[in-house]
Amino acid sequence: MQKPEPLAGRRLLVSAGPTREPLDPVRFLSNRSSGKMGFAVAQAAQEAGAVVTLVAGPVWLPTPEGVERIDVETAREMSDAIHARIEQTDIFISAAAVADYRPRRREDVKIKKHGETMRLELVRNPDIVASVASLPGAPFTVGFAAETENVQANARSKLVHKKLDMIAANRVGDGLAFDADDNELSLLWQGGALILPKQDKLALARAMLACIGQRFVEKQTSEGAR
Ligand code: CTP
Repeated sequence: MQKPEPLAGRRLLVSAGPTREPLDPVRFLSNRSSGKMGFAVAQAAQEAGAVVTLVAGPVWLPTPEGVERIDVETAREMSDAIHARIEQTDIFISAAAVADYRPRRREDVKIKKHGETMRLELVRNPDIVASVASLPGAPFTVGFAAETENVQANARSKLVHKKLDMIAANRVGDGLAFDADDNELSLLWQGGALILPKQDKLALARAMLACIGQRFVEKQTSEGAR
């Protein structure tokens, strides 16, 4: 007999890649995210039978087959695209490296140089994954934590503060994670953890989704029992 597939027919929303926060028509603030992990998650979810929508920041990756893709640029565009679809979402996986801050002003014309130094004023962007997790009737929500130190402790604190169902923690830094084809992850949730050893991002995404599927079913079962 075939094993039941917990993700079959489930609606998954995945965010991936960096955001770009414009300063003027030719410049922006961004980060080193390649989008590879989020795209691998979208592909693995589609293979597992889920109906997948991928909200992608600017990346140079082909869309996985069978996945609906929405391209965005800024954190606020990403937030709007995600919130517009969240009611139809069973599981939200926030793999995007969302810029925490954006320039207070986007100039309409190219900024000219003046003195030897320049000050930029930045304002906070919305925390997308936290805003989703705190919605009434929120989907099963999974975040990522990219840390350079105290990986598990920092990730556990994000799991609690952002009210997530699960967090995938990894160490970043010189030559690690960003833009690499392989990675290792610690999956953490309230009362449990699973370490996924270093492997290519698609294999990692498949293992991650197997764990998400299990936790998702357990959460549904415990909510149904209440
Ligand atoms: N995230 C988000 N919106 C933001 C910032 C982050 O949705 N404005 C999500 C990311 O997609 C990821 C998780 O939050 O799933 C953790 O992101 P990370 O940058 O590691 O953590 P921060 O909360 O930004 O904390 P810090 O930068 O202070 O470590």
